[in-house]
Amino acid sequence: METIIFREMQPGEEAAVCSLVEEVFDEWVAPDYEAEGREEFFRFANPRALAARLNTGGFVLLALFEEQIVGMLEFSPPDRIAMLFVKLRNRGIAKSLLKLAIEKARNHNPTLSKITVHSSPFGEAAYERMGFHQTGQKTKDHGIEFIPMELELGD
Ligand SMILES: CC(C)(COP(=O)(O)OP(=O)(O)OC[C@H]1O[C@@H](n2cnc3c(N)ncnc32)[C@H](O)[C@@H]1OP(=O)(O)O)[C@@H](O)C(=O)NCCC(=O)NCCS
Repeated sequence: METIIFREMQPGEEAAVCSLVEEVFDEWVAPDYEAEGREEFFRFANPRALAARLNTGGFVLLALFEEQIVGMLEFSPPDRIAMLFVKLRNRGIAKSLLKLAIEKARNHNPTLSKITVHSSPFGEAAYERMGFHQTGQKTKDHGIEFIPMELELGD
Protein backbone atom coordinates (compact mmCIF):
# COMPACT_ATOMS: atom_id res chain seq x y z
CA MET A 1 0.00 0.00 0.00
CA GLU A 2 1.18 3.53 -0.78
CA THR A 3 2.57 5.59 2.05
CA ILE A 4 2.51 9.31 1.41
CA ILE A 5 4.55 11.45 3.77
CA PHE A 6 3.55 15.04 4.42
CA ARG A 7 5.99 17.63 5.71
CA GLU A 8 7.00 21.26 5.41
CA MET A 9 9.40 22.27 2.63
CA GLN A 10 12.92 23.06 3.82
CA PRO A 11 15.13 25.85 2.46
CA GLY A 12 17.11 24.47 -0.47
CA GLU A 13 14.18 22.43 -1.84
CA GLU A 14 12.78 25.28 -3.96
CA ALA A 15 14.16 23.93 -7.24
CA ALA A 16 12.79 20.42 -6.68
CA VAL A 17 9.39 21.84 -5.74
CA CYS A 18 9.29 24.14 -8.79
CA SER A 19 10.25 21.25 -11.02
CA LEU A 20 7.19 19.30 -9.82
CA VAL A 21 5.05 22.41 -10.38
CA GLU A 22 6.41 22.79 -13.91
CA GLU A 23 5.78 19.16 -14.79
CA VAL A 24 2.17 19.21 -13.54
CA PHE A 25 1.46 22.70 -14.92
CA ASP A 26 2.72 21.83 -18.38
CA GLU A 27 0.71 18.64 -18.54
CA TRP A 28 -2.63 19.79 -17.10
CA VAL A 29 -2.86 23.58 -16.91
CA ALA A 30 -0.79 25.09 -19.74
CA PRO A 31 -2.95 23.61 -22.52
CA ASP A 32 -5.74 25.98 -21.34
CA TYR A 33 -3.41 29.01 -21.43
CA GLU A 34 -1.85 31.22 -24.06
CA ALA A 35 1.97 31.36 -24.29
CA GLU A 36 1.91 34.68 -22.41
CA GLY A 37 0.11 32.96 -19.53
CA ARG A 38 2.77 30.27 -19.23
CA GLU A 39 5.55 32.88 -19.17
CA GLU A 40 3.73 34.93 -16.56
CA PHE A 41 3.15 31.83 -14.42
CA PHE A 42 6.84 30.92 -14.38
CA ARG A 43 7.78 34.46 -13.37
CA PHE A 44 5.89 33.52 -10.19
CA ALA A 45 6.63 29.77 -9.99
CA ASN A 46 10.42 29.66 -10.02
CA PRO A 47 12.88 28.83 -7.23
CA ARG A 48 14.10 32.38 -6.69
CA ALA A 49 10.62 33.94 -6.56
CA LEU A 50 9.39 31.15 -4.26
CA ALA A 51 12.32 31.63 -1.84
CA ALA A 52 11.74 35.40 -1.84
CA ARG A 53 8.04 34.95 -1.02
CA LEU A 54 8.81 32.54 1.81
CA ASN A 55 11.21 35.06 3.33
CA THR A 56 8.28 37.39 3.86
CA GLY A 57 5.92 34.78 5.37
CA GLY A 58 3.91 31.82 4.25
CA PHE A 59 4.92 28.19 3.91
CA VAL A 60 5.00 25.25 1.53
CA LEU A 61 3.76 21.79 2.46
CA LEU A 62 4.97 18.78 0.51
CA ALA A 63 3.65 15.29 -0.17
CA LEU A 64 6.34 12.67 -0.80
CA PHE A 65 6.10 9.15 -2.16
CA GLU A 66 9.24 7.01 -2.14
CA GLU A 67 11.23 10.16 -1.32
CA GLN A 68 9.99 11.95 -4.44
CA ILE A 69 7.93 15.14 -4.20
CA VAL A 70 4.52 14.29 -5.63
CA GLY A 71 2.49 17.22 -4.32
CA MET A 72 2.89 20.74 -2.98
CA LEU A 73 0.78 23.53 -1.52
CA GLU A 74 2.05 27.08 -1.01
CA PHE A 75 0.16 29.17 1.54
CA SER A 76 0.56 32.95 1.42
CA PRO A 77 -0.65 35.10 4.30
CA PRO A 78 -3.17 36.14 5.22
CA ASP A 79 -5.37 33.43 3.69
CA ARG A 80 -4.31 32.51 0.12
CA ILE A 81 -3.43 29.22 -1.56
CA ALA A 82 -0.78 30.53 -3.95
CA MET A 83 -0.09 27.15 -5.59
CA LEU A 84 -1.47 23.60 -5.29
CA PHE A 85 0.01 20.98 -7.58
CA VAL A 86 -0.26 17.21 -7.31
CA LYS A 87 1.32 14.63 -9.57
CA LEU A 88 -0.21 11.44 -8.10
CA ARG A 89 -3.77 12.54 -8.65
CA ASN A 90 -7.08 11.33 -7.23
CA ARG A 91 -5.60 9.79 -4.10
CA GLY A 92 -6.71 12.53 -1.70
CA ILE A 93 -3.31 14.27 -1.65
CA ALA A 94 -4.67 17.78 -2.40
CA LYS A 95 -7.33 17.30 0.26
CA SER A 96 -4.72 16.26 2.84
CA LEU A 97 -2.40 19.15 1.92
CA LEU A 98 -5.31 21.57 2.29
CA LYS A 99 -6.31 20.13 5.69
CA LEU A 100 -2.74 20.36 7.00
CA ALA A 101 -2.32 23.89 5.61
CA ILE A 102 -5.50 25.05 7.35
CA GLU A 103 -4.28 23.55 10.65
CA LYS A 104 -0.91 25.23 10.32
CA ALA A 105 -2.32 28.59 9.24
CA ARG A 106 -4.81 28.50 12.11
CA ASN A 107 -2.09 27.74 14.64
CA HIS A 108 -0.46 30.94 13.49
CA ASN A 109 -3.70 32.91 13.16
CA PRO A 110 -6.55 31.47 15.29
CA THR A 111 -9.07 33.96 13.83
CA LEU A 112 -8.51 32.79 10.24
CA SER A 113 -12.04 32.45 8.86
CA LYS A 114 -11.56 31.66 5.17
CA ILE A 115 -9.12 30.34 2.59
CA THR A 116 -8.98 32.01 -0.81
CA VAL A 117 -7.56 30.86 -4.14
CA HIS A 118 -7.33 31.98 -7.75
CA SER A 119 -8.07 28.61 -9.30
CA SER A 120 -6.98 27.54 -12.74
CA PRO A 121 -9.85 26.39 -14.97
CA PHE A 122 -8.47 22.84 -14.54
CA GLY A 123 -8.51 23.04 -10.72
CA GLU A 124 -12.01 24.52 -10.35
CA ALA A 125 -13.93 21.24 -10.04
CA ALA A 126 -11.50 19.84 -7.46
CA TYR A 127 -11.74 23.02 -5.36
CA GLU A 128 -15.53 22.80 -5.52
CA ARG A 129 -15.35 19.21 -4.27
CA MET A 130 -13.18 20.46 -1.41
CA GLY A 131 -15.84 22.99 -0.35
CA PHE A 132 -14.77 26.15 -2.17
CA HIS A 133 -17.23 28.39 -4.00
CA GLN A 134 -16.73 30.99 -6.68
CA THR A 135 -16.58 34.57 -5.35
CA GLY A 136 -16.11 36.57 -8.53
CA GLN A 137 -15.97 36.53 -12.30
CA LYS A 138 -13.57 34.32 -14.19
CA THR A 139 -10.74 36.73 -15.05
CA LYS A 140 -7.81 36.82 -17.45
CA ASP A 141 -4.63 38.69 -16.48
CA HIS A 142 -1.42 38.55 -18.56
CA GLY A 143 -2.73 35.43 -20.31
CA ILE A 144 -3.58 33.66 -17.03
CA GLU A 145 -7.22 32.72 -16.63
CA PHE A 146 -8.41 32.21 -13.07
CA ILE A 147 -11.55 31.82 -10.99
CA PRO A 148 -11.58 33.58 -7.59
CA MET A 149 -12.80 31.06 -5.00
CA GLU A 150 -13.13 30.85 -1.25
CA LEU A 151 -13.59 28.24 1.47
CA GLU A 152 -15.32 29.39 4.62
CA LEU A 153 -13.82 27.82 7.73
CA GLY A 154 -16.03 26.66 10.56
CA ASP A 155 -14.94 26.72 14.20
C1 LIG B 1 -6.39 20.00 -8.80
C2 LIG B 1 -5.41 19.03 -8.13
C3 LIG B 1 -4.53 19.83 -7.17
C4 LIG B 1 -6.22 17.98 -7.34
O1 LIG B 1 -5.27 17.14 -6.65
P1 LIG B 1 -5.65 15.65 -6.19
O2 LIG B 1 -4.66 15.21 -5.18
O3 LIG B 1 -5.84 14.81 -7.39
O4 LIG B 1 -7.06 15.90 -5.49
P2 LIG B 1 -7.74 14.94 -4.39
O5 LIG B 1 -7.50 13.52 -4.77
O6 LIG B 1 -7.34 15.35 -3.02
O7 LIG B 1 -9.26 15.26 -4.63
C5 LIG B 1 -9.99 16.22 -3.87
C6 LIG B 1 -11.43 16.20 -4.32
O8 LIG B 1 -11.51 16.77 -5.63
C7 LIG B 1 -12.03 15.82 -6.57
N1 LIG B 1 -11.26 15.99 -7.80
C8 LIG B 1 -9.93 15.91 -7.96
N2 LIG B 1 -9.58 16.19 -9.24
C9 LIG B 1 -10.75 16.47 -9.88
C10 LIG B 1 -11.08 16.82 -11.22
N3 LIG B 1 -10.13 16.98 -12.16
N4 LIG B 1 -12.39 17.00 -11.54
C11 LIG B 1 -13.35 16.87 -10.60
N5 LIG B 1 -13.09 16.55 -9.29
C12 LIG B 1 -11.83 16.34 -8.96
C13 LIG B 1 -11.81 14.46 -5.94
O9 LIG B 1 -12.74 13.51 -6.39
C14 LIG B 1 -12.00 14.80 -4.46
O10 LIG B 1 -13.37 14.91 -4.15
P3 LIG B 1 -14.09 13.86 -3.14
O11 LIG B 1 -13.24 13.86 -1.89
O12 LIG B 1 -15.43 14.43 -2.94
O13 LIG B 1 -14.03 12.55 -3.84
C15 LIG B 1 -4.54 18.29 -9.17
O14 LIG B 1 -5.35 17.69 -10.13
C16 LIG B 1 -3.56 19.20 -9.89
O15 LIG B 1 -2.44 19.39 -9.46
N6 LIG B 1 -4.00 19.80 -11.04
C17 LIG B 1 -3.16 20.63 -11.86
C18 LIG B 1 -2.77 21.90 -11.16
C19 LIG B 1 -3.95 22.75 -10.78
O16 LIG B 1 -4.85 23.00 -11.56
N7 LIG B 1 -3.91 23.21 -9.52
C20 LIG B 1 -4.86 24.15 -9.01
C21 LIG B 1 -4.47 25.49 -9.48
S1 LIG B 1 -4.25 26.64 -8.18
